[in-house]
Amino acid sequence: MTDKINGNFAGSHIISVDQFSIDDVHQVFAVAERMEPYAKRQKVTSVLNGAVLSSLFFEPSTRTRISFGASFARLGGQALETVGFEFSSFAKGESVFDTARVMAGYADVIAMRHPTTGAVGEFASAINVPVLNAGDGEGEHPTQALLDAYTIQKEFSIHNKSIDGAVIALYGDLKYGRTVHSLIRILSLYKNITFVMVSPEQLTMPHYLMDMATARGHTVVQSNNPKDALYDVDVVYATRVQKERLQDGEQNISYSENFQINAELFNQHAKESTIIMHPLPRDSRQGAYDLSCDLNTDPRLAIFRQTDNGIPIRMALFALTLGVDDKIGRNDSPVTWYVPKTYADR
Ligand code: NCD
Repeated sequence: MTDKINGNFAGSHIISVDQFSIDDVHQVFAVAERMEPYAKRQKVTSVLNGAVLSSLFFEPSTRTRISFGASFARLGGQALETVGFEFSSFAKGESVFDTARVMAGYADVIAMRHPTTGAVGEFASAINVPVLNAGDGEGEHPTQALLDAYTIQKEFSIHNKSIDGAVIALYGDLKYGRTVHSLIRILSLYKNITFVMVSPEQLTMPHYLMDMATARGHTVVQSNNPKDALYDVDVVYATRVQKERLQDGEQNISYSENFQINAELFNQHAKESTIIMHPLPRDSRQGAYDLSCDLNTDPRLAIFRQTDNGIPIRMALFALTLGVDDKIGRNDSPVTWYVPKTYADR
């Protein structure tokens, strides 16, 4: 279910980054920019008044699920959710096909997360209501890739840099992390990227994805040394170990203490303009050695600006797939409730 978008978002499923051209990505970003005033609660729109989103999440999620719902609500629509296999009819043996056909009768658009790679595409292929992949196993997370690339573009614009020619370190669990599997695909649509892949030896990026990047003219460097992810890079994109996807014999894989990106390591090796990203959640449990909290006050930590960007990007995807992007801005109204003045601490 990976029909190319080619500028025709209305009615399309969004399953894989492979559906996008660079022009499609720019189109999403252009609509996302127009969504910023609503995302920042400066204005209210109700362009999707009466529309229903069905959100089906069969894996843990906080930000993706809520940001899909919040984005839909900020367009004036209503989000209805189910979470967890045990509370859905999958637990009674219902097939993906049957669930899809039923949901298509209830909702105008569906966001779905599923632990099995390919399951969201299978679901989408049964129906005509647009389905947005909110993560399918270790497969893909295309809406995250869009918000990640949008974040990089916004952060770079402060330094007058473009994504073309950037040095981007993908860090951590590159084997099972679907966010990095989608991110390498979207960044490969740009030009002349240097990918620095830093992971423990057991968690390297699948070869077919590195081959795809080199075939498109990018440079791919592999390492298991944290310093390589920081020295002279524009972005370091950290990830947690995807514990829930480790196979038999891999259960003991974890980051070692000296693999952790913390303030000391970062200040020693990174540039003034290097930004730190992470799809979140970061594993803050003792001994996990995910991205350290001692960087929380460093302005180069972009992780909460990154999560904020999920709203305009998902609003843009809803507006585009439901064909109302040209109606944005008509019949706006002012915000009538209390809104904090600044996002300065992001
Ligand atoms: C990620 C995911 O679910 O793939 N989270 C997210 O959607 N922001 C990353 C993760 O769970 O580690």
